[in-house]
Amino acid sequence: MESFEFRNPTKLIFGKGQIEALEREIPQYGKNVMVVYGGGSIKRNGLYDQVLERLSAIGAKVTELSGVEPNPRLTTVRKGVELVRENNIDFLLAVGGGSVIDCTKAIAGGAKYDGDVWEMISNRIRVEETVPFGTVLTLAATGSEMNSGAVITNWETNEKYGWGSPANFPKFSILDPVNTISVPRDQTVYGIVDMMSHVLESYFHPATNTKLQERMAEAILMTVIETAPKLLENLESYEHRETILYSGTMALNGILQMGARGDWATHNIEHAVSAVYDIPHAGGLAILFPNWMKHNIEEAERKLKQLAVRVFAVDPSGKNDRELALAAIDAIQAFWTSLGAPSRLADYDIDGSKLDLMADRAMARGEFGNFQTLKKPDVEKILEMSL
Ligand code: NZQ
Ligand code: ZN
Repeated sequence: MESFEFRNPTKLIFGKGQIEALEREIPQYGKNVMVVYGGGSIKRNGLYDQVLERLSAIGAKVTELSGVEPNPRLTTVRKGVELVRENNIDFLLAVGGGSVIDCTKAIAGGAKYDGDVWEMISNRIRVEETVPFGTVLTLAATGSEMNSGAVITNWETNEKYGWGSPANFPKFSILDPVNTISVPRDQTVYGIVDMMSHVLESYFHPATNTKLQERMAEAILMTVIETAPKLLENLESYEHRETILYSGTMALNGILQMGARGDWATHNIEHAVSAVYDIPHAGGLAILFPNWMKHNIEEAERKLKQLAVRVFAVDPSGKNDRELALAAIDAIQAFWTSLGAPSRLADYDIDGSKLDLMADRAMARGEFGNFQTLKKPDVEKILEMSL
């Protein structure tokens, strides 16, 4: 294992009816609360009214920032920073999926940052002070509810970057599976692919002796693989929503990443693709990840073979290591396709005309990948394989 320090200060408040915790958790931060949300799903499913009711019960003065885009944009972050400063906001409450939470994180950091917020994000400045914030999660996917990272898109320049700071964890996150029941089928699938990809990114790393990390990763994958088809059969199942919700948080809250921080090259390439084409994050991952695996099959062979046997129950008899590794890649791709995820960039009408721009954007912060370092020709190859 690599040496590590672990600290995750987010209070996780999980279960049915936990929205009432807002009344207990918010008052300690002040009365001026800004609620941040997306394009209206929380108004349609009634969550907005429930939140406002709780805020009214504690006498909060509410400011709102609505319309946060999927793949949240810098322009919205800037709007939020202005609102926080104009209204002396004490506390931010994100009510939504990863995009709403990420936008809130960037606002929380940007409002206290003495400079331009895009400079803070693109230069990865680890701010020390942020506006405190909490979340009410409505979509199981990113893990943003219990980590300190945010991903923001500058649409004017086609750049999408991750940013984070140890000072920027949510103070609390409320996870009620009921709030995820209205997530439509396609977004449910994207969430499942995203959380599995977080586990897979964590699984491929250069550290040795990570037996428990590997077993924990496999446990999450097996749980999701077992539950996802049942959930898609019955999107209203509380039980399956509960399992998937908990899995998504556990995939990227730092616990799996202790002692081995993972590869994360596929995420970097995906962010470049969605910076240029604005496609759903996990749609891009479903297309790119199998091709990252094929491109790195030699180095990834041991882990892929292990995945084939332990997670996908492939019978190893009569198969050599390479055949088992390929069987794992096929099984992952077949599983995602069976859920309805895309498998080629062409599924989003993306051809090779902007391949060079996507590769450049992926390389913007230099060579990347902790397991296998990728240079521009590697990225071009993976993108070509994905067309
Ligand atoms: O905007 P609204 O109307 O709320 O609709 C959203 C949106 O259209 C809808 N939705 C969310 N909850 C719903 C719902 N619809 C009905 N019922 C509900 N309960 O779903 C759509 C997608 O929402 P979004 O927040 O964009 O999805 P997700 O949670 O997958 O977040 C994606 C973003 O997170 C970033 C991605 O790059 C992307 O920008 N990531 C953030 C990470 C992090 N901070 O740790 C890690 C990830 O790897 C990822 O990169
Ligand atoms: Zn992701």
